[in-house]
Amino acid sequence: GDVAVLVPAAGAGLRLGPGGPKALRLLSGEPLLVHAVRRVAAAPSVRLIVVAAPAAEVEAVRALLAPVAPVTVVAGGAERQHSVAAALAIVPADVGIVLVHDAARALTPPELVESVAAAVRAGHPAVIPALPVVDTIKEVGPAEVVLGTVDRSLLRSVQTPQGFRHDVLAAAHAAGLEAHTDDAGMVEKAGVPVTCVPGSELALKITRPLDLVIAEALLHVT
Ligand code: CTP
Ligand code: MG
Repeated sequence: GDVAVLVPAAGAGLRLGPGGPKALRLLSGEPLLVHAVRRVAAAPSVRLIVVAAPAAEVEAVRALLAPVAPVTVVAGGAERQHSVAAALAIVPADVGIVLVHDAARALTPPELVESVAAAVRAGHPAVIPALPVVDTIKEVGPAEVVLGTVDRSLLRSVQTPQGFRHDVLAAAHAAGLEAHTDDAGMVEKAGVPVTCVPGSELALKITRPLDLVIAEALLHVT
């Protein structure tokens, strides 16, 4: 394998409600992080998995994942980007491709990991999985008054894993950690072309309580 996968898992999971760090919350009896890492490890291109865990849970996460797959666990940071930076810092220079994932996208299939990695290998410096937007999207102004309807055909919902040439991601991080909601946002800012590949409905981000219900149902149909 020529791919390192970074799995930020250090978030609090506030939108999921009370119950501890989201990556450790159970889905069908197993922590979300276990579901996520098992699927990443099943992708043949993956050489190295680096998990960024909540600082207080590093040892517990090491013990949790030891039977699942060989992983390196580091302490995450206050923002997702800091967790990604901490994981990226330990990727050896000879790893050519780095994917950045979310523990919260626990059901992401190994095939999506492979297709993102393959697109980077084929020469795209930055690759993101994306799906068409299903709802009609409005732009609104003050007092929730609609300003207009956005052309939906030009919009995509973006998922993870997002894949990068190692040097491209490292350069974007070295340029500073201005707030971006995804990793591709950092490299876009650096002027690097970012290419979409088809995403997967299984790669949904478990964010709110309803998402756990959906994920539980998906586990039983896949
Ligand atoms: N993450 C992280 N470090 C942080 C914040 C988030 O590693 N400081 C990770 C989360 O663990 C998650 C992924 O980034 O796997 C996506 O973040 P999100 O879905 O927002 O998770 P949380 O931040 O945990 O949830 P919330 O925003 O509801 O608190
Ligand atoms: Mg968050």
